[in-house]
Amino acid sequence: MKFGVPPVHITLDGPAGVGKSSLARLLAEKLGLPFLDTGAMFRCIALRLGEKGLGLGGDALAGELHKLDFALSGEGGTFVLLCNGKDPGPAIRSEAVGVLASRFAALPEVREFTRGKQRAIGEGFSLVAEGRDLGTAVFPRARVKFFLEARTEVRGARRQKQLAAQGSRERLEDLVEQIRRRDELDRGRSLAPLKPAEDAVIIDTSDLSLEEVLEELLQRARPACGL
Ligand code: DC
Repeated sequence: MKFGVPPVHITLDGPAGVGKSSLARLLAEKLGLPFLDTGAMFRCIALRLGEKGLGLGGDALAGELHKLDFALSGEGGTFVLLCNGKDPGPAIRSEAVGVLASRFAALPEVREFTRGKQRAIGEGFSLVAEGRDLGTAVFPRARVKFFLEARTEVRGARRQKQLAAQGSRERLEDLVEQIRRRDELDRGRSLAPLKPAEDAVIIDTSDLSLEEVLEELLQRARPACGL
């Protein structure tokens, strides 16, 4: 980004298992921009505060949240969200942590805190950011907004493959059920629910390869970055 030129924010929102992280990472790499995985922020909160944290409420919860600091670190295709200076690593990636993250994500204190942190990271910097409410609530003036969809069974199968590559075997039925539960939580909450922004480009990726979706994203995002 040149000095004095407004930053370019590109957002990718969509449900669990749709491939947002992989696609946002690749898109950012191709465009030469940093990549912000906002789900990692909610996952760090869930891992740090645990199930008990859900019951804290109000000031006690806000107090615990403010002990957490987030920063983006890296270059090229290797951006990572640091929590209190450390890479949270694979511990945040289980589906159980994902479900707990989704429950924390419905709490007003958590939404206010994470929105503030995400905006602070994007302030003055161009980036590709992915999550659930980036185009609607966090960066409503983003230059390009994408909303990715895919059938639940397809998302379950993709998640199974991803976990297998990390060495963990999960039953497809269990993953589909967990994804369905997360969809309900993420779409049904009253604060910043998962939904496309009015000006988002909606892409159903069910029958497309990763490369095909990436190509479509690039075709729309390149002109916005002056490429
Ligand atoms: O994208 P993910 O699976 O890592 O996200 C984990 C949970 O965090 C997701 O189910 C809901 C919540 N989340 C959110 O509410 N808003 C975001 N922008 C990103 C994630």
